[in-house]
Amino acid sequence: MKTIAINVEKGGAGKTMIACHLAWVLADAGHRVLFLDLDRQCNATDALADFESLGTCKPLFEPNYVPPTSLPRLSIYSNRMGGEYDADYPRALTNINANFPALDSHFDFCVIDTPPSWSWINYAALLVCNHLIVPVELGPFGPAATKQVSDSIATVNQRRKTPIHVVGLVPNRVRANDTHQMKMLAAIKEKIGRNLFTNFLPERAHYSQAMQEHVPVWRFDKDVRTSLPPMRAFLEEAMTRIGSHK
Ligand SMILES: Nc1ncnc2c1ncn2[C@@H]1O[C@H](COP(=O)(O)OP(=O)(O)OP(=O)(O)O)[C@@H](O)[C@H]1O
Ligand SMILES: [Mg+2]
Repeated sequence: MKTIAINVEKGGAGKTMIACHLAWVLADAGHRVLFLDLDRQCNATDALADFESLGTCKPLFEPNYVPPTSLPRLSIYSNRMGGEYDADYPRALTNINANFPALDSHFDFCVIDTPPSWSWINYAALLVCNHLIVPVELGPFGPAATKQVSDSIATVNQRRKTPIHVVGLVPNRVRANDTHQMKMLAAIKEKIGRNLFTNFLPERAHYSQAMQEHVPVWRFDKDVRTSLPPMRAFLEEAMTRIGSHK
């Protein structure tokens, strides 16, 4: 099972929109996909109406987790926890780390959506994932948020056997006619080189409208000629980067 987390410590950066489209493209390719919605807002859980609910993700944080006997091809665990482990999170982290391999043979991919602000829940996501996609906003606080992610990766890597594979940073809500954004983009490219996705996600109302309809943009019943190609290109690049990683 390849586990891909989408994380940045910035609200509204596009984590959920990207995580859902990634899950949908993998589902449409016939893969067995587990979605782990670790955000208590559960926005992804609402959008992914075609995934079958496994209920709260709480058992993953308890000792000796055993997967349900029947697991649908498209399954979703949601963060319906009420802060049970906040006072004893080291144990919850140890448990999920020990439990996660039990899911390995049941799914081809696991996609993890994360909350916007740092907590032990984000630590758990970075602990169990293999791959990480970081959405970036080309606005005033985007660079600070990506710096925070890189600090968090360094912290969690100390506890991992192998370092997290950073698939890349993907600029989201890009407006090609915004010269300020284009300058920021060039500066980021200069700094991080190939860690920046070549295929950015533009600002397109269709992405959020499709999510509201519980479908990916390629199943959205509108003329998606300007919104679908960049999404397809981004997802293809993501899968190539993940697939080629040793
Ligand atoms: N490229 C885009 N173009 C237009 N709207 C977008 C784009 N990306 C995301 N959105 C919309 O912006 C809003 C915030 O995106 P999303 O919920 O994916 O961000 P998030 O990082 O998951 O937020 P949170 O931190 O609150 O979980 C949503 O309504 C989403 O549909
Ligand atoms: Mg979200």
